[in-house]
Amino acid sequence: MASQAAAVNTGGVSTGVSRREFLYYIWGASIALLSLQGAGLLLWFLIPRFREGEFGGTFTIDIGELPAVNDQPINFADGRFWLVNLDSTQPNDRMYQAEDEPNPIQGVAAIYKVCTHLGCIYSWTPTNNRFECPCHGSKYRLDGRRVESPAPRTLDRFLIQAIADDESTVLAEASLVDDFYAPLPLPSGTAFLRVDTGSRKQGPSETLLCDFLGNCP
Ligand code: FES
Repeated sequence: MASQAAAVNTGGVSTGVSRREFLYYIWGASIALLSLQGAGLLLWFLIPRFREGEFGGTFTIDIGELPAVNDQPINFADGRFWLVNLDSTQPNDRMYQAEDEPNPIQGVAAIYKVCTHLGCIYSWTPTNNRFECPCHGSKYRLDGRRVESPAPRTLDRFLIQAIADDESTVLAEASLVDDFYAPLPLPSGTAFLRVDTGSRKQGPSETLLCDFLGNCP
């Protein structure tokens, strides 16, 4: 009973808190502190921490870096994408309109550098005017559509925006067609492109282009 009655004394003045209550308070405070730490860690884990120019973040590109229409793609290694400038109404060996494509393919696109088959990094092969994957031989047209399998679908694309010369006004952004980013025709006044590698859409499964030519391997 003496211990129950033993209150915490400060300078001989009882605070009215027993030793057991005091220990409960300490225990409760420790639990609260641990919970707060856990919540903080969870937030730190969940909140994106990408900076400008990092993969998973946004890239601002001067319009002067854009490739010419249907020219070879520009490699942005840090962002893991290719920048292409397409116009199927001005066909060449790299870009053209296939039999099942009723509308012109025109505009700028940012194409993810990972093969849609098993995830290898493919590259542009200038001698063949197409993207080629070294792992199992998939081939893609300049806009990312499959020429030859085993890739199951068109290459993925990132969201792209046309930005005015104040570097902030968004003049236009790639529209979604069947949940896939269409090439973005650039409005007049475009000074920069902004590519958001945190926003990626999977390419569709379309007929292999080699099927139209009857030369699939
Ligand atoms: S990973 Fe590219 S063809 Fe298999």
